[in-house]
Amino acid sequence: MDNHHRTPPRFSATFDPHSIAEIQRAAATGIYDIRGAGAKRKLPHFDDLLFLGASISRYPLEGYREKCGTDVVLGSRFAKKPVVLKTPVTIAGMSFGALSGNAKEALGRGASAVGTSTTTGDGGMTPEERQASQTLVYQYLPSRYGMNLEDLLKADAIEVVIGQGAKPGGGGMLLGQKISPRVAKMRNLPEGIDQRSACRHPDWTGPDDLEIKIEELRELTDWEKPIYVKVGASRPYYDTALAVKSGADVVVIDGMQGGTAATQDVFIENVGLPILAAIRPAVQALQDLGMHRKVQLIVSGGIRSGADMAKALALGADAVAIGTAALIALGDNDPALEDEYRKIGATAGAYDDWHEGLDPVGITTQDPVLAARLDPVRAGRRLANFLSVMTMEAQIIARACGKSHLHNLEPEDLVALTIEAAAMARVPLAGTEWIPGQSKF
Ligand SMILES: Cc1cc2nc3c(=O)[nH]c(=O)nc-3n(C[C@H](O)[C@H](O)[C@H](O)COP(=O)(O)O)c2cc1C
Repeated sequence: MDNHHRTPPRFSATFDPHSIAEIQRAAATGIYDIRGAGAKRKLPHFDDLLFLGASISRYPLEGYREKCGTDVVLGSRFAKKPVVLKTPVTIAGMSFGALSGNAKEALGRGASAVGTSTTTGDGGMTPEERQASQTLVYQYLPSRYGMNLEDLLKADAIEVVIGQGAKPGGGGMLLGQKISPRVAKMRNLPEGIDQRSACRHPDWTGPDDLEIKIEELRELTDWEKPIYVKVGASRPYYDTALAVKSGADVVVIDGMQGGTAATQDVFIENVGLPILAAIRPAVQALQDLGMHRKVQLIVSGGIRSGADMAKALALGADAVAIGTAALIALGDNDPALEDEYRKIGATAGAYDDWHEGLDPVGITTQDPVLAARLDPVRAGRRLANFLSVMTMEAQIIARACGKSHLHNLEPEDLVALTIEAAAMARVPLAGTEWIPGQSKF
C-alpha cells in the first residue's frame, strides 16, 4: 500500500493522550494517582472576565497622584482584635509537613514585609513560622494534627477548616517519605508511615454543633481573635449562610483550582466548583442576611495575579488567598533546575509530585539536605516582591475604573467573554446586556 496517501494519525478527543497514558499507568500498577497542586483541566476562570475601563461615562483616577486604598479589616463582626492588613492578598494555609520549615518561614517573611497574613495548616505551628509572621492565622482542622491550646492562643486569628477546594469532602494525605522525626513528633504519629487526614471533625456533624464549637473558641480566646470558617466550593450559598449563622467572622471559600499538598488526582479533577462559580452565590448569601462587608469573604483557588485579585474583589470578595502562586514566587518549579526535575521524572512548570518529598528547590520536602537549599530570607524577599506586584496591578485596574479603593470595584465594572462565565459571575456577556439566567429582556 502507498503510505504517502494515508491520513496522518489522529488522536481522539475522548481518548486523548493523557487519558490513554492514565489507563496504561493504572493497568500496569493497580494504584490510583496521587499528586499535589490543583485541577489541571480547563475551567471557567477569571481569564473569562474583562474590566470595562473608564470612558466618557466614567472618569479614571490618576496613577501617580490619586490614592487607591488597599487595606482590609478581617473579623469586624465579633472579634475584639480584628486582623488589619495592608493588602487584601493573604497566604493560604499550607502545612508544615507538606512544606519544609524553611518554606514556612519564607512565607512568613514575605507576607510580613508587605503587611499581610500567613496561615498554619494541617500539622501545627512551628516557632519559626510564628516568629516570621506578623499576623498568623491558626488552622483548626478535622485531623487535629499538631493542634494545641498553647499555639492557638499565640495566633492572631483562628480558621476552622471544614474543607478545601481541591478536595471538598475529603481529607489530605501525607506519605511516609515526608513524616520526618520532627513532623512525626508534632503530629503525634509514627515516623515514615503514610498518613491520611480525617475528612470531618470528630466532635461535630452540622451547623448547630459548629455554632457551639465557635463559641468555645471565642471563650477560649476571650472574644479577641477573629474566627474564620473555610469551606471548599460546592454549595457556596448555603455553606456561607450556615457559617454566618454559626457565628463566623470571616468565610473562606476555596475553588477547585485550589492547590493541595497531596490527594487523589480523580478527586482534584472531578469534585467541587471553580471559584468563579462560587463567589456570587456566597456574596448573595451575605447580602440576603444583611452581612455583606460585615462578615468578610476571602476567596481562593487559582489566583495568580493582581488582575485575578481585582476580579474576585469586584465580584464581592473582601480579600483573596494564594497558595500555589506563593510557592512559585518562593522558587517552586524553577526552570533553572530542569536537569534535576528530569532526574525525578518531572519537568519545570509541571512538577506536582509534592507528596514524594523530592523537591529540588527545597519547598515541598522534609529531607534536611533538600530543605536547606531554600534560603528563607531570599525566598521571602521574592514573595514580598510578588505580593507588591499583585497589589500594584490591582490598583492599576481599580484606578482605571475610577475607584479610590480596591473594595469599590463592583460587578458593574466587569463583562464576560463566554456565556458560561457570564452566567457564573452574573455579569453581562461582552458587548451585550445579557446575563444568562437573569435576562432583563
Ligand atoms: C502545599 C499545599 C499545602 C496545603 N495545605 C493545606 C492545609 O494544611 N490546610 C488547608 O486548609 N489547606 C491547605 N492547602 C490549600 C490552601 O490553603 C489553599 O486553599 C489553596 O492552595 C488555594 O489555591 P491556590 O493554590 O490555587 O492558590 C494547601 C495547599 C498547598 C498548595
